[in-house]
Amino acid sequence: MSSDPREQGGQGRAELLAALSLQLAWGADEALAESPQDRFGASAELAAKLAAPPAPPPPAAGRDAPLMFVALSPRTARPATPPVTAPVAQAERAAASADTLEALREVFAAFDGCALRETATNFVFADGVPGAPVMLVGEGPGAEEDREGLPFVGPSGRLLDRMLASIGLSRREGTVYITNVLPWRPPGNRSPTDSEIALCLPFLKRHIALAKPKLLVLAGGVPARALLGAREGITRLRGRWRMLECPPLVEPIPTLATLHPAYLLRNPGAKREAWSDLILLRRRLDELSPQVGRH
Ligand code: URA
Repeated sequence: MSSDPREQGGQGRAELLAALSLQLAWGADEALAESPQDRFGASAELAAKLAAPPAPPPPAAGRDAPLMFVALSPRTARPATPPVTAPVAQAERAAASADTLEALREVFAAFDGCALRETATNFVFADGVPGAPVMLVGEGPGAEEDREGLPFVGPSGRLLDRMLASIGLSRREGTVYITNVLPWRPPGNRSPTDSEIALCLPFLKRHIALAKPKLLVLAGGVPARALLGAREGITRLRGRWRMLECPPLVEPIPTLATLHPAYLLRNPGAKREAWSDLILLRRRLDELSPQVGRH
């Protein structure tokens, strides 16, 4: 991971301190050499992976090539949703009926087509300020989120906040708006099924279209696969900007998939990739609105 301020644009003191504190928390607590040593990546398996040439991009997706929500090439992608079934059609109609975020929250909370609703304690819609330049989409609530009714308030949320602070962003300061693919916690934190994702996807797409972020960040494989219509794992999808069509918005939204903070907590060696994604995000934001998050 780079700590060269020249790579991070014009940061203020608070942002530099937040970046330093994140790196300290990630174990970079001593400067031993001119160039960084990847001690976490020392295992033979990871070293081989890092030495391998980068995978070629999927044929249809250049750097800024527009993507629709559902990519159709059977060789490179599978539809993010199974064939439209009655509850999915019901979800699509309910989502389309909402003209504001508040209306969307109401119709989504009232939607009874997804059984996760029965086992969850709370409906978790979003946090941060709607209209923020960056919108981040996670997977779904964990135990603490389910208890509090807010996304990313548990251990991975605390890490997420530190990561965002390291590039000058904060949900409390109105620069990031956060939601999840699922608003209800899957029992026992199990992975969501394809049909649960398909049922919630119309609401997520509408959520993005109504929030109109300048940049979209997909944290983890579930939002990345659901919105990009891809089948690859997150380690292949991350680290590259794609343009996501979000009808009825006219302009596609630059979208970056990255590693989920919970994955980073379990796999400390992956923080290098996460850091490089954070730098990509800050650079793109600097191109669009350099003043965002700069005090
Ligand atoms: N993980 C997520 O993807 N979302 C949350 O809100 C919490 C943990």
